[in-house]
Amino acid sequence: MALTGKRILLIISGGIAAYKSLDLIRRLRERGAAVRPVMTAGAQQFVTPLAVGALAADHVFTDLFSREDEQDVGHIRLARDCDLIVVAPGTADLMAKMANGLADDLASTVLLAAGRPVLIAPAMNPKMWAHPATRRNAETLSRDGVHFVGPNAGEMAEGGEAGLGRMAEALEIVAAMETLLDDGEKPLAGKTAIVTSGPTHEPIDPVRYIANRSSGRQGHAIAAALAALGARVTLVSGPVTIPDPQGVTTIHVERADEMLDAVISRLPADIAVMVAAVADWRVAASSDQKIKKKTGEAPSPLQLAENPDILKTVGHHAKRPKLVIGFAAETQTVEANARTKLQTKGADLIVANDVSPATGIMGGARNRVKIIGPENVEEWPDLSKDEVAGRIATLIAERLLSQG
Ligand SMILES: Cc1cc2nc3c(=O)[nH]c(=O)nc-3n(C[C@H](O)[C@H](O)[C@H](O)COP(=O)(O)O)c2cc1C
Repeated sequence: MALTGKRILLIISGGIAAYKSLDLIRRLRERGAAVRPVMTAGAQQFVTPLAVGALAADHVFTDLFSREDEQDVGHIRLARDCDLIVVAPGTADLMAKMANGLADDLASTVLLAAGRPVLIAPAMNPKMWAHPATRRNAETLSRDGVHFVGPNAGEMAEGGEAGLGRMAEALEIVAAMETLLDDGEKPLAGKTAIVTSGPTHEPIDPVRYIANRSSGRQGHAIAAALAALGARVTLVSGPVTIPDPQGVTTIHVERADEMLDAVISRLPADIAVMVAAVADWRVAASSDQKIKKKTGEAPSPLQLAENPDILKTVGHHAKRPKLVIGFAAETQTVEANARTKLQTKGADLIVANDVSPATGIMGGARNRVKIIGPENVEEWPDLSKDEVAGRIATLIAERLLSQG
């Protein structure tokens, strides 16, 4: 209901994902929001103002120096007369302008004059997103208080290339907007959280990989529970078959190194909950081509290399979150292993569980955990994964409140 009656200024910039903004307009209007569109010159190369205006049922603002537009509303009022400004798609170019305070067209001028929260859904080629300049700009914008949804990993619209850079889907953007516009008093309002979830897949060749049985249920439930308490949550998920949680920005990755990059790119944050069952090892030299079976020849052994330790990296990072929580899935000496993990990884708490096959926890719907802190151990009863998530989110809120 957070969008009902809300006035959204939608800035569409010149990326191929501009076609998705048409669906976004429709979704927003279905939820009772009024959408006022602004298009850059670049955006008009991809979708027409006619289509955008027809879907929004409003005038489309395109020109800073238009006498008509200035008389009707004016760029300063455009920036103020709304509840939320959404940039979708956000090009590398517009992000660079925003990060540097440039104002040479209507979209960038409105953004510089913005009197309302700004949410950006970046969309670009993975190389553009990974470029140090874009990384710097994204970091500056985060520091300036701009909210992000996506980008996701996956195939680019133009085909061929895959990686981080795909614009978040319309419903993910809607969910992020609902979270921002939900003004109820919530204990984690204004806090940011990163949660990892699911397994990682480490390729052997283009068709085979090493994986584990993690379903992502616990991590996804924790992301949703933190969002329900008002946190702005980024979920970095390995390959899972369950849906993305509502109200959470989900980044999809496959490998441990991609998961690490996605997590680090989201720092600083207040909270990190590292739930994913990250593969400890990857294949040292995965093959670009499918490895063929040769009749009569013994299979060649797989050489493994150690993967980066995501929890340890976050626990010792210069931008370490205020609260770092790790998970320890063990099949023996659970508590002792979790205690060692607590010390070596720089975590504040370890949530330990016994994932021996007889427990049915890995991939199942229930969990039985121990919360291990530097001084004490709390043993929780057998609970559903949603209940465990709710308790962990409450514990996080209590900890952060007591830290002030
Ligand atoms: C076919 C095509 C697709 C493009 N897709 C993207 C994109 O997805 N993301 C992006 O940042 N730039 C993309 N560009 C480049 C931008 O259009 C270009 O940087 C432009 O100056 C952006 O202007 P704007 O930010 O004012 O809209 C694309 C260009 C072309 C020709």
